[in-house]
Amino acid sequence: MEGLRRLEYRGYDSAGVALVNGGVRRVRKLGKVAELQSALDADPCAGNAGVAHTRWATHGAPDEANAHPHISGRIVIVHNGIIENYEALKKTQTERGFDFTSETDTEVIAHQIMWHLSRGGDLLRAVSLALKDLKGTYALGVIDVEQPGHIVLVRNGSPLVIGAGADGGHYAASDVHALLQVTTDFIVLENGDIARIGRDGVRIFNGELEDGELRPVERAPVATPLSPHAIELGEFDHFMQKEIHDQPCAVTDTLEGRLLDDTVPDGILGPGAAALLDAVKAVQIVACGTSYHAGLVARHWFEEFAGVPCRVEIASEFRYRRQVILPGTLFVAISQSGETADTLAALALAKKCDYLPSVAICNVPESSLVRESDRVLMTHAGPEIGVASTKAFTTQLVTLLLLAMLLGKRAGMEPAVRAGLVAQLRNLPSRLEQALALEPRIRELAQQYADKNHVLFLGRGRHYPVAMEGALKMKEISYIHAEAYAAGELKHGPLALVDRGMPVVSVAPNDHLLAKLKSNLQEVRARGGVLHVFADSGAGFRSEGDSVVVIELNAPENAVAPIVFTLPLQILAYHTALLKGTDIDQPRNLAKSVTVE
Ligand code: AGP
Repeated sequence: MEGLRRLEYRGYDSAGVALVNGGVRRVRKLGKVAELQSALDADPCAGNAGVAHTRWATHGAPDEANAHPHISGRIVIVHNGIIENYEALKKTQTERGFDFTSETDTEVIAHQIMWHLSRGGDLLRAVSLALKDLKGTYALGVIDVEQPGHIVLVRNGSPLVIGAGADGGHYAASDVHALLQVTTDFIVLENGDIARIGRDGVRIFNGELEDGELRPVERAPVATPLSPHAIELGEFDHFMQKEIHDQPCAVTDTLEGRLLDDTVPDGILGPGAAALLDAVKAVQIVACGTSYHAGLVARHWFEEFAGVPCRVEIASEFRYRRQVILPGTLFVAISQSGETADTLAALALAKKCDYLPSVAICNVPESSLVRESDRVLMTHAGPEIGVASTKAFTTQLVTLLLLAMLLGKRAGMEPAVRAGLVAQLRNLPSRLEQALALEPRIRELAQQYADKNHVLFLGRGRHYPVAMEGALKMKEISYIHAEAYAAGELKHGPLALVDRGMPVVSVAPNDHLLAKLKSNLQEVRARGGVLHVFADSGAGFRSEGDSVVVIELNAPENAVAPIVFTLPLQILAYHTALLKGTDIDQPRNLAKSVTVE
């Protein structure tokens, strides 16, 4: 149950557990792990082998019948991922006489394994035969009720780790956080692996049957530096709030060892990075959601400081498009979790194309993205539990700026410019502390949002993606419809939305676009829109009663300003959601790691 609670942020539509003890006892509940816990408190169960699951619904509504574990005859199963050919399998299985009790794609896996098991052999063999029939991505935990001493595990595109507990038990989970209370040493399964854990230890096999036999493979254990306390709330009410406040430290940790005097050493990208960096003539960034917004900010840095053309694309679009690749293009994949299915698929596609070796920007060292990329720039944000990404975003921006500086060095960046950027980065944690100190004023401002249905976010240049990120945070946790526009684009359509009382949030750094931005904001004022401007203290904005509210920030250093301006928008979304009483850390319909397409 502790493991389930720690994994809950990844999916929270329903939760369930099945324990084998003579027969099998299964308890499933709609909603959060707490609901399951209450049911178990009222009617406890015990056993020596079990599987449990928190669900983010893909096939079938979030209800009890669709909750995992699923059962077919002697087989008890939990599954993450998607089975793409489930309709065809379901048809065959129905003809074979199998009954379906759910609308999930998971149930066909259980039936398929049961079908093979009923034809002879042990569970491991039945699972490996069933895998040949499945198309899609999955991580599985499977028990045969008649061989209860073992659990068979499969990894194919969805993450799975095994931990040996100090209590002599063996455990598996879809991320290390779930098992930190029993171990910090893990075996990370690779795609195609089948493993069996039990009282007698762990055995791992290559999934392919050769002459009817599975071939054993070795997977060395790795120690994680994470502590079970790394994911405790401390003095905060929500993980999102804690993670917003973690940002000065997270940025300090991400910069640690990466600034040398007034330069960024090539070595931060690993041994021999200089040759790769020398070859870069263009950059292609691929990511999803908040990580995509980080890429959009970075595009400005790559083009301004390094003079290399940079394209940024959402991974789910990129992966289905014909690639036209400029010679010498560096492929950069950004992902907090390193498990986002679309980003991983984009990376897999890029590896088959004519890109330079790939670079991952990621927060989870054990993740698939880190393992599958050629080079890695880790963000050291610490575990991010709130579904709304905060400190992951700002630390992604820091690493992307470092990468832009490495490329800038090749493009003849003036030493004074480089030293200036290094100084801005060193100063950044204290700028972020100052931004956090605005929380009481922003909390007050949030009161004007709680009864609104729509909000516009405006920015220009590299602050346009900051506005996009502010709008994403607002809609994700407060459920208020929020859209971001490049301020200059307003008059081409969205201005029609603005009427009396419509809140329009703007990010206003003191940069070369300030005068243009001010004109755009006048267009909003003239239509009765209410302006809430987060402005650099040197930008010359003045509050006018309730219709123009200016909150000043100290963000004079231009390059890092997008990082500083992000914080008040995160805080605004947080306090709006708090007033609305939404589930801030686990907003409806979402999950932290999107491991399905
Ligand atoms: C943002 O708050 C979201 N949680 C979401 O957009 C997220 O950034 C996206 O799903 C990508 O996740 P990743 O960084 O783990 O790949």
